Amino acid sequence: MIFKGQKVILRPVELSDLKQLLNINDPEVRQNLLSVFPLNQVREEEWVKGLYSSQKDVVFGVVPMGEEKLIGTTGLHGIDWVNKVAEFGIAITDKNYWNMGLGTEATQLTLKYAFEFLNLNRVSLRVYEYNKRAIHVYEKCGFVHEGRLRKARYLNGKYHDVLIMSVLSDEYFRR
Ligand SMILES: CC(C)(COP(=O)(O)OP(=O)(O)OC[C@H]1O[C@@H](n2cnc3c(N)ncnc32)[C@H](O)[C@@H]1OP(=O)(O)O)[C@@H](O)C(=O)NCCC(=O)NCCS
Repeated sequence: MIFKGQKVILRPVELSDLKQLLNINDPEVRQNLLSVFPLNQVREEEWVKGLYSSQKDVVFGVVPMGEEKLIGTTGLHGIDWVNKVAEFGIAITDKNYWNMGLGTEATQLTLKYAFEFLNLNRVSLRVYEYNKRAIHVYEKCGFVHEGRLRKARYLNGKYHDVLIMSVLSDEYFRR
């Protein structure tokens, strides 16, 4: 499955993308993500290979329109086919592409996939309270604030709150 927007294409992640995927070790990117351990080529390769046998995770590579190179990934995780829920995640790991509208469009396309193709009923996410850029993007894409895990994230000697946001299928189709 390949999705085309105005600014980005979402396409399957391939083993040939490994070099770009390793940008995820950049501390400025990493401080916003759930996983904390460093990733090397072997672990990334296992991760990519595992993606296409998983019935619970769907990950797309994000490629700027007219370019070849992947600049990040977006996906749905822990898909629960009975309750029709999943958790959204995104990382534009090449910082040169931040603030160009690509993350917003990649988020919108992933929601389209979730609701219009997979027939999910709810997509939620966790975001650190200090990640103001991501929160702004999620609000723009229709995610609603629904909760706060107090002091659930440790970074740089301090605890931070984790915000829970979600979009429901009927909210998506109303927009
Ligand atoms: C968060 C992320 C997906 C956003 O993607 P992006 O392509 O940079 O975002 P966009 O360019 O589409 O939109 C950025 C918006 O945030 C706004 N913004 C930027 N910095 C901001 C800040 N400090 N506070 C509030 N808004 C901010 C921009 O003005 C823009 O809004 P606008 O379009 O209304 O003007 C991307 O930066 C990223 O992957 N970051 C690292 C990993 C990460 O944080 N992942 C999310 C984990 S929950």
